[in-house]
Amino acid sequence: MTHRTDRKPAGGRGGRSPRRPARDQARNAAFDVLRAVDERDAYANLLMPRLLRERGLKGRDAALATELAYGTLRGLGGYDAIIKVCGDREPDAAVRDALRLGAHQLLKMRVPPHAAVGTTVDLVRLRIGAGAAKFVNAVLRKIASRSLDEWMAIVAPDPAGDLSGHLAIVHSHPRWIVSAFRDALGADADETAALLEADNARPLVTLVARPGRSSVSELGNAEPGRLSPYAAYLPEGDPGRITAVAETRAAVQDEASQLVALALTRVPLDRRDEVWLDMCAGPGGKAGLLDALATHGDLAGLDDGVPGAGEAFAGGARLLAADAQHHRSRLVWQTTRDAAVVTADATEPAWRPGSFDRVMLDAPCTGLGALRRRPEARWRRDPSGVAELGRLQRRLLDSALDATRPGGVVAYVTCSPHLAETRVVVGDVIGRRDDVRQLDARDYLPGIEGLGDGPHVQFWPHRHGTDAMFLALLRRLPA
Ligand SMILES: C[S@@+](CC[C@H](N)C(=O)[O-])C[C@H]1O[C@@H](n2cnc3c(N)ncnc32)[C@H](O)[C@@H]1O
Repeated sequence: MTHRTDRKPAGGRGGRSPRRPARDQARNAAFDVLRAVDERDAYANLLMPRLLRERGLKGRDAALATELAYGTLRGLGGYDAIIKVCGDREPDAAVRDALRLGAHQLLKMRVPPHAAVGTTVDLVRLRIGAGAAKFVNAVLRKIASRSLDEWMAIVAPDPAGDLSGHLAIVHSHPRWIVSAFRDALGADADETAALLEADNARPLVTLVARPGRSSVSELGNAEPGRLSPYAAYLPEGDPGRITAVAETRAAVQDEASQLVALALTRVPLDRRDEVWLDMCAGPGGKAGLLDALATHGDLAGLDDGVPGAGEAFAGGARLLAADAQHHRSRLVWQTTRDAAVVTADATEPAWRPGSFDRVMLDAPCTGLGALRRRPEARWRRDPSGVAELGRLQRRLLDSALDATRPGGVVAYVTCSPHLAETRVVVGDVIGRRDDVRQLDARDYLPGIEGLGDGPHVQFWPHRHGTDAMFLALLRRLPA
């Protein structure tokens, strides 16, 4: 953690009490989070709650600190472009973080300009020094002279000549991610913009009431979900304080994550289910739901019927959950009840081929589908990782198909819409094999619009309010 308390407050006001103590505590906490993200690759969503607890920030001040840090991290692509044209020199990293924080207050939050500039300059004077405070004052005053839209018209490339570059600055995403999203959305510019916008909004906290273990009505003031029969949206409060969550009968889980697991269980099989495999199970979100479904059945589907090609699973199967990393398989063990849990490398399986009726492969991926959850995540991803992940994804998918009995089914899932991790991987693997048939996954998610042209399914934050989760369902053909 970088407090920089070793530096003496400089300048005439050094040592004087800040004007708005609680508010400035919020700004200090936000600044500390930005520095920690920058300097030691901290995760903002883990660090911020800890800082708030340690410093006793609650209520509106906690909300302000969180919005300052998360909003600044999300928006910093655009803010950096503005800072560049407003300063006469390249700021050092700490000064740049303070400028980003000030720019966010000036351009995105309803903080009056004098307060946004004054509090940021105070913070810099106390934490960095008088010279830096003077520079920050000059740059922020320039930034305050225009609105965000006006600045974007100046700093973003012309969309006619460079649409990805334009969207990247205006919606503050790395350019390669914008290009990947455009490819996945069939180059639709408006949809790409809507997706980027959705990535910049705070997601709803979604819970799952694991069937047979909890019910939506038990989850405090949460409202029933729109897409998954087991989902509920929590308007406010700490989900960890809900008894069913603390007892792992319910959990925090994105609705698309619930639906891809449910779809896998709804594919009709030629004989009774006995064993399922979740081969990349850590930390256990999907395994927790699959474990409950395997034991108790798809109770909502059994009550209401499943229209379309799907069938509600009646229960009576057993789940084996595996993860290559021991600390992650331990988390799976903690969140499941009936599942057997092992630490195993699924590319060199510890199980016999052809053993499982249903296999979930929630493959390691770039996570580009969940950028809204981790404010800094988009800046940490690296396009060079995509090819290497693609090789692992292909090996894991082959292994998943080998593990499945003839007549059984595999769900290939990624929390990324990047074509190189989704359709291309599935196409390559099934193109090499003659024992696989791809099913139309939309048939097992009846009533949900906007899933694409099939046979795979792609969820989207801007269409469904979920993570951008991909699902392909593959039937292993009888020999
Ligand atoms: C996308 S995460 C799975 C998320 C999980 N299904 C859930 O819903 O909580 C991918 C997981 O694959 C695991 N993994 C990576 N390579 C693996 C391998 N060769 N064998 C088994 N697990 C692997 C990682 O440790 C990571 O926990």
